[in-house]
Amino acid sequence: MTTLIKHIDSLVTLKNGNPDHRAAPALMADLSEIHDGAILFAENVIATGTTAEIEAKIASGELVADAVIEAKGKTLMPGFVDSHTHIVFGGDRSQEFGKRLRGATYKEIAQEGGGILRTVKGTREASKEQLLERAKRLAWEAISHGTTAMEVKSGYGLTTESEIKMLEVIQMLKEELPIEIIPTFLGAHDFPPEYSNGQKEGYVDLICNEMLPIVAERQLAEYCDAFVDEGYYTIAQARKIFEKAKSLGIKTRIHADEMASVHATGFAAEIGSISADHLLFISDEDIEKAREAGMVCTSMPGTAYFIRMPYAPARKIIDKGAILALASDCNPGSCYTQNMQLVMSLAVINMKMTAEEAICAATINGAKAVGRSNRLGSLANGKQADFIILDSPSYIDMFYHFGVNHVSEVWTKGRRIKVNEK
Ligand code: NIG
Ligand code: FE
Repeated sequence: MTTLIKHIDSLVTLKNGNPDHRAAPALMADLSEIHDGAILFAENVIATGTTAEIEAKIASGELVADAVIEAKGKTLMPGFVDSHTHIVFGGDRSQEFGKRLRGATYKEIAQEGGGILRTVKGTREASKEQLLERAKRLAWEAISHGTTAMEVKSGYGLTTESEIKMLEVIQMLKEELPIEIIPTFLGAHDFPPEYSNGQKEGYVDLICNEMLPIVAERQLAEYCDAFVDEGYYTIAQARKIFEKAKSLGIKTRIHADEMASVHATGFAAEIGSISADHLLFISDEDIEKAREAGMVCTSMPGTAYFIRMPYAPARKIIDKGAILALASDCNPGSCYTQNMQLVMSLAVINMKMTAEEAICAATINGAKAVGRSNRLGSLANGKQADFIILDSPSYIDMFYHFGVNHVSEVWTKGRRIKVNEK
């Protein structure tokens, strides 16, 4: 069964050269946009071109369209690949947010026993059903805003049992949702209260000797992540965890240089992580290391906005030629949104990216950050037909008219998702 969508005012394909990412200003300016475009697809993209070109091929019998849809006045583009989220969690931190609005900082709240550890308590107490129910609601909201693939992390359990519980919930999301879910083990998110100051190494050993072997054996995660920052994990601890993960066949990604410049990004590049995320305090030297290693630099401007911190130097990262991706970081403490349109809006206004750069960063480069750019992130022939339709004749409207949802349809694997039937 093939479908043709034609007379699309703006068809954004990102297909030219079929690169697995786009880096540097010149290449990121190329969205391979087709006016009055048409796309023919089944589960994967079969052909894209102008409506006249594709219709001519259908007329000659070279291509076959079983169903035809008109898309005048619309924009069709790849769905967003959100490469960093924490949508599985228990408890409620809205009071803590209120406190922050009255002047407390994210750090102060964490030092008082709030922050990540408050969510750890709520997550440990929650049943799998409760965790799944909320995560599904958050994921559906993301889908309705255009997300067609999403990485999801554990990291609010911090015991073997509760980390596994979170990963099992992520597996359930994978089975129940019509989008691609990429599971990440983040046992090294914070130190659990049971392993306070003098005992931190004991918890690192628990991750290495107990948690990671189970995660690998049961294939519960594709990636292992760690929060390497001032007051959290050191590079030495992360090295121990990442070496173990790699020996078990689990790839790595990292929370790096979010609160201070600790050169976690350089370490990640050296150890072969696929992506380093946050980067508010990334050094010039580490940008260069990321570029050399071909490691993705993932910026999540929603976090800087939400905790009132300086934005990551995305402009500099792009200008220096490193690969920049955008993700939501959706979590209950430092960035409670899963709306990628909002993330892109923050990126263009506050990080001085162009609209074209923001689109590349939220699609093909997001796919690169989860190791799926051979299949997701652009509409080149043979890639998965994961796309969104915007209710406007140009992608620029998504940036110009901000704060509203421009996505009217979401399609994955060539099938339309019934977004309102969540
Ligand atoms: O990605 N940086 C560490 N972890 C999360 C925050 C989690 C929380 O506050 O619950 C983040 O920003
Ligand atoms: Fe995070």
